[in-house]
Amino acid sequence: MEDESQEIELTEDEKDLLKELLNESAELSNLGESRRKFLKNVSTVSAAILATQLLAEQKLLAFEPSGNAGFDVNQVDAMSIKLRVNGVEKALQIEPRVTLLDALRERLELTGSKKGCDHGQCGACTVLVDGRRTLSCLTLAAQVEGSEITTIEGLAKGGELHPVQAAFIKHDGFQCGFCTPGQICSAVALMNEAKNGEASYVTADVRAKSGSVKLSDDEIRERMSGNICRCGAYPNIVAAIREVHSGKAVVQNWDIVIKEKANEAV
Ligand code: FES
Ligand code: FES
Repeated sequence: MEDESQEIELTEDEKDLLKELLNESAELSNLGESRRKFLKNVSTVSAAILATQLLAEQKLLAFEPSGNAGFDVNQVDAMSIKLRVNGVEKALQIEPRVTLLDALRERLELTGSKKGCDHGQCGACTVLVDGRRTLSCLTLAAQVEGSEITTIEGLAKGGELHPVQAAFIKHDGFQCGFCTPGQICSAVALMNEAKNGEASYVTADVRAKSGSVKLSDDEIRERMSGNICRCGAYPNIVAAIREVHSGKAVVQNWDIVIKEKANEAV
């Protein structure tokens, strides 16, 4: 272990850095700074910088349910935007780097969209932007000004669940439910993609112009592969989507197995 009483001279680089950080003009070699003191000073300055950044971020993400009351635009690099969410226009003042996900959850109280990875890898934050599925954690709120944003909260109409929502309930397409808002938004957009004839990685003939794509289970699995479910509700999610897409009732695998067992027992 390093002896506390032992003074260790600073290297030239360390002296230069300390001078820069503390804006010292005096020669540090004359001050007899120890390495420990140097590190303490660096830590103090770093902590001050970090605290300043955190305070600014906290202010930007501070929850303000009634508009922008108390938000001092002059203190931070803020901008005014208007977001159209679930058919309602909302005026916000935000820092330009705020993501759509944070704007929805922290500023607009729409907490249905979930923050799973915050890195575009899990799909939990999926929302619809002009009808197309979009990862809100990788989208800046300022980017989608003027677009029609639909979140899970905006899918039901007049007290009626969206058909995909109803099918997820019917087929038990979830367990903990964390991924479900993203899964459902993805599935809703997927129906339109199939209707418009958009090909996927597993589409057999990408040049066929059939007008629409019939979704096999493989097609559904591939097109939903950006939405991770840690509870593993995948078979039920596929069944729910297939039922809505085909318009025909889909029997669950476990239902078939129960009927087979019942027949065997007779
Ligand atoms: S939170 Fe956006 S993809 Fe995971
Ligand atoms: S239902 Fe739990 S993660 Fe999908």
